[in-house]
Amino acid sequence: MRIVILSKGYANYSTQRLRQEALSRGHEVRVINYAKCYVTLERGNPVVHYKGEEVRDVDVIIPRISQSLTKYGSSIVRQFEMQNVFTTTSSIAIVRSRDKLRSMQLLAKAGVGIPKTVFARETADFKGVLEQVGGAPVIIKVARGTHGNGVVLAETPKAALAVMQAFYVEGVNFLVQEFIQESAGVDIRAFVVNGKVIASMVRQSLDDDFRSNLHQGGEGVEVKLTTEERRIAIKAAKAMGLSICGVDMMRSEHGPLVLEVNASPGFAIEKVTGANVAEKVIEYAEQAARNGHSKDKVGA
Ligand SMILES: Nc1ncnc2c1ncn2[C@@H]1O[C@H](COP(=O)(O)OP(=O)(O)O)[C@@H](O)[C@H]1O
Ligand SMILES: [Mg+2]
Repeated sequence: MRIVILSKGYANYSTQRLRQEALSRGHEVRVINYAKCYVTLERGNPVVHYKGEEVRDVDVIIPRISQSLTKYGSSIVRQFEMQNVFTTTSSIAIVRSRDKLRSMQLLAKAGVGIPKTVFARETADFKGVLEQVGGAPVIIKVARGTHGNGVVLAETPKAALAVMQAFYVEGVNFLVQEFIQESAGVDIRAFVVNGKVIASMVRQSLDDDFRSNLHQGGEGVEVKLTTEERRIAIKAAKAMGLSICGVDMMRSEHGPLVLEVNASPGFAIEKVTGANVAEKVIEYAEQAARNGHSKDKVGA
């Protein structure tokens, strides 16, 4: 197959691993920096250009769109979709996953456990909002944060009010969440490919940070999931319409709770667990492209 990896970091570990595995399985591979692509739209004849040339004859694209370029990147993905090129992640699923409010709505509707969450715009009924999530300490997060940036632990009602006011004044959408104290600083990442958990790790912050993101200095260790955790990870992936994703969960007193579902999960989990994630992704791409184009069924 002719595979295009849409990535703005040619040298990134994940990009390189995907490239290696695709090559070793006999595919033609190109890494294209979607940030430098442009699309010309003309009636009936849309074309994606890269480095002065038309990008043509592609069987599959594997998008690795970064959070900071969600809009632009997903519109490039959409262009390929419109040309009937199979994509391992649909443009709509990428956009959806980058909005925490939308994600929480979909997960909750699908019956996936999430921390009790409120989204509000104003701070008028501030007390009511805090009560809904069990009172301070609470977690406040911006709707479009990533890597742990934009997630705040407000330990007192006063602090919570100040943070909410600050976000409100800046016009930032945020959500207020029950603080899962019993497993603060620890979360689980399940890497899902095509309805299966293919690798899982527990991430632990190395200091007193309540955030366990590897980008905030967290450390990963391989972990075996319970049957329930596995089931929930798969359900969450399905609810988000993502065939390839990283599902983040916390082990709470009332069972596993999903924090978020990442559409472009990092491959550092390979180093932690020894699993060949890149190979599974390429296998999925081969299989899915053969079976034709799947439509997004999430409907929101
Ligand atoms: N409700 C919560 N209770 C306790 N810890 C949380 C909660 N929400 C997030 N965290 C911690 O903060 C980290 C980042 O939160 P997350 O929602 O995944 O945002 P990001 O997209 O920035 O990674 C999580 O990995 C977890 O360790
Ligand atoms: Mg996260």
